[in-house]
Amino acid sequence: MGRKPVTLARELQESAAKVDAFFERESHLDLLRFITCGSVDDGKSTLIGRLLYESQMIFDDQMASLEKESKKQGTQGDQIDFALLVDGLAAEREQGITIDVAYRFFATNKRKFIVADTPGHEQYTRNMVTGASTADVALLLVDARAGLMPQTKRHAYLVSMMGIKHVLLVVNKMDLVDHKEEVFRRIEEDFRVLSKEMKFDAPLAMPLSALKGENIMKRSPYLGWYKGPTLMGYLETVPVQDAHTDKEEAIFPVQWVSRPSEAFRGYAGTLAQGRLRVGDEIRATSSGQTARIQSLVTMDGLLESAWARQAITLTLDREIEAARGEVFSLAKAPLSMTDQFEATLVWMIEPTGLVGRSYDLKLATQTVPASLTSIKHQIDIQTFQKKPCKGLHLNDIAVCVIATQRPIVYAPFEDSKTLGGFILIDRMTHATVAAGVIRHTMRRAQNVHTQPLTITRGEREKLNAHKGRVIWFTGLSGSGKSTYANALEIALHSDGYRTYLLDGDNVRHGLSKDLGFSEEDRVENIRRVAEVAKLMLDAGLVVIASFISPFARDRQRVRELVGDDHFVEVYVATPLEVCEARDPKGLYGQARKGLIPNFSGINSPYEAPVAPDVLLQYPMTIEEGVSLVQEKLKDLRSV
Ligand code: ADX
Repeated sequence: MGRKPVTLARELQESAAKVDAFFERESHLDLLRFITCGSVDDGKSTLIGRLLYESQMIFDDQMASLEKESKKQGTQGDQIDFALLVDGLAAEREQGITIDVAYRFFATNKRKFIVADTPGHEQYTRNMVTGASTADVALLLVDARAGLMPQTKRHAYLVSMMGIKHVLLVVNKMDLVDHKEEVFRRIEEDFRVLSKEMKFDAPLAMPLSALKGENIMKRSPYLGWYKGPTLMGYLETVPVQDAHTDKEEAIFPVQWVSRPSEAFRGYAGTLAQGRLRVGDEIRATSSGQTARIQSLVTMDGLLESAWARQAITLTLDREIEAARGEVFSLAKAPLSMTDQFEATLVWMIEPTGLVGRSYDLKLATQTVPASLTSIKHQIDIQTFQKKPCKGLHLNDIAVCVIATQRPIVYAPFEDSKTLGGFILIDRMTHATVAAGVIRHTMRRAQNVHTQPLTITRGEREKLNAHKGRVIWFTGLSGSGKSTYANALEIALHSDGYRTYLLDGDNVRHGLSKDLGFSEEDRVENIRRVAEVAKLMLDAGLVVIASFISPFARDRQRVRELVGDDHFVEVYVATPLEVCEARDPKGLYGQARKGLIPNFSGINSPYEAPVAPDVLLQYPMTIEEGVSLVQEKLKDLRSV
């Protein structure tokens, strides 16, 4: 069953809707969000099922079918198989529903709870990150017989990276080790050592048996040596981040600008942290403009002041420039911007993440194209050592430098989860590829300014008496790219255009001498060529580029870099068989023999353009091809 790609943002939105409904019902109690990490074998489903059952939030009909099902499966006596409750629901949501993190709600008379249940398998790192992004507390589950597992370390690391401070190691199945204290103490010690590497506040280990209900709500006579709290006792008392606090400065990401009439302009969104009051002076970070809050509008009417997590619409006492993605702060506590920063990334998808590739970065309500400028190192999740790394694979955690196309409002994740946490989205499939947390901005981004030049491209174009353009030929090796490109340059040159031809084989003798044909090297090759083409375009030239450029994303990035209006993509669509039969350099023959790894079309992919600006479909003469491209260049003389 194929899963539709969903973005983390959407998953979070869906869960937020459920959370809102829950709030309604239990509005007077404070709320604890927690996440459980561990595998089914550790007894995770049993534990969650037990918590739901004990807090008596299970609906009667669910209860009835549960008993029936347990009997069918031969569970003894009146014992109910709690795991069935959770796994049964999990099976339900597998039926084509896209959300992989199940949120369950329960309450006692002290608190209400939302538990994010995330599948434990390694490939589900993305689910864990989704769940952890909103949690205050994490329960790391282990089987008392096995102790800490490799995945426990991974979970601990991710939980710490996502900023969860309260972490409880649940040592489950104590009944299966005869409730022996020394077994528990050994695991507790391992956890203490592990926690030293993490940024946890008072990490705690607790023995229990979810199946037997020992130390869940009540202490167990078999665990008399344990003096700490019960699980529910812990959950009911562990401190939660209070939304009603003046400690944090206000951060208000603008979700949309509402303009029902000329007279009304409201800025709608959810107050991420802090407090806003009518009369406060706010500052729009990107424009630097300030204004005073005139009113705070909510679904329930007007407010004098609003707290974190409240959905509000602000009106201001004067007009300012602010669109979706703008972030308001109090004028006295301005926020910062950056376009280059260091971040820790968790890669969450199969296709490799590479330096130079462009993604959409979403941070609060901002969306901006961004790319990895370097991967500093990967983190070995077992030893916590740094390892060199060229590309990011599924579940890799790495420290990277990221550059955004425009400056964004940000804060280090340590200072603000809202402005320091982000996701990267594939621009073609819209799948979430990574989640990241900002470590710090790079000075370079702040101190390197663009030098304004007096002579502009317009002036250069006037002198040339024609506009600049980038004409990008893509196609397999041997497809005829260079032949067409060469003929086009001759034609343009004899018509008096200033041209330059960048050709794959030639560039690889100089500028890209150090690069081979692996995916990351090709991405880098195209990135360099694109930057050169952009400079030449700025010089007013008609740049002709001829590169296999096999990856659609990289061609898209060139288009964005030089600008849509200045870019003409020409696809030389010659079938592989024809290229192979031609084999002008004898490379196909060698590749077929296995002598050349990563040969495009043979053992490395070629992603054909879906909608090229010009299609040169085989068979076609050189003259025909050249005149088809020239059709697209008619406006070059209108300077
Ligand atoms: S690209 O993929 O990075 O765009 P580029 O166009 O620069 O490739 O270089 C392609 C040329 O390098 C081919 O025309 C061919 O002559 C040569 N070449 C050598 N090895 C390979 C390979 N493994 N795959 C493709 N081309 C190769």
